[in-house]
Amino acid sequence: FSTLALVALLAYLLGSIPFGMVITRALGLGDLRKIGSGNIGATNVLRTGNKGAALATLLLDAGKGGVAVLIARAMAGEDAAQLAALASFLGHLFPLFLGFKGGKGVATFLGTVLALAWPVGLACCATWLVMALIFRISSLAALAAAGSSTFWMLGLGQGRMVILGMILTLLVYYRHAANIQRMRAGTEPKIGKKD
Ligand code: G3P
Repeated sequence: FSTLALVALLAYLLGSIPFGMVITRALGLGDLRKIGSGNIGATNVLRTGNKGAALATLLLDAGKGGVAVLIARAMAGEDAAQLAALASFLGHLFPLFLGFKGGKGVATFLGTVLALAWPVGLACCATWLVMALIFRISSLAALAAAGSSTFWMLGLGQGRMVILGMILTLLVYYRHAANIQRMRAGTEPKIGKKD
């Protein structure tokens, strides 16, 4: 087993932990799959009305990506760190523990980018926050944050991340297809609202 394969496997397994499901089940907040968008992420956890659970989901889903990157970097350097970012992100989208039906990857995307290059991560988080404050739509903020990431990577001297960034961004957009349709129809709920 090569080190890179081990790094990818570990990162995938870490990314596969669906913290939103774990937390909402532990707190008896109901079945996330039957609430709001049915997604397993922090935005949908917030629709249960429990802000602490949503914050914990956000931090843990971001944290698992960040931790995967940091472990990989310590084990095998920068290329391994990028591989771990991709593997943990794919773990969140296609988790082993949920029959490969996972989330949209926004928190995990932000966590991995923060760990790969924190200035780029901060710029993406700031983009999310500004868009969320203006429009109050989580998916729109996510699409803006992911969509701007290539720009931030190039602008902040992290061109080595651009290919990875574009792959993650495409996957984020792909997973938000239903959100994009709802936005076009004007039915995408504001943050914290069920519909
Ligand atoms: O992080 C996912 C977010 O962008 C959209 O979540 O539940 O509104 O589909 P949701």
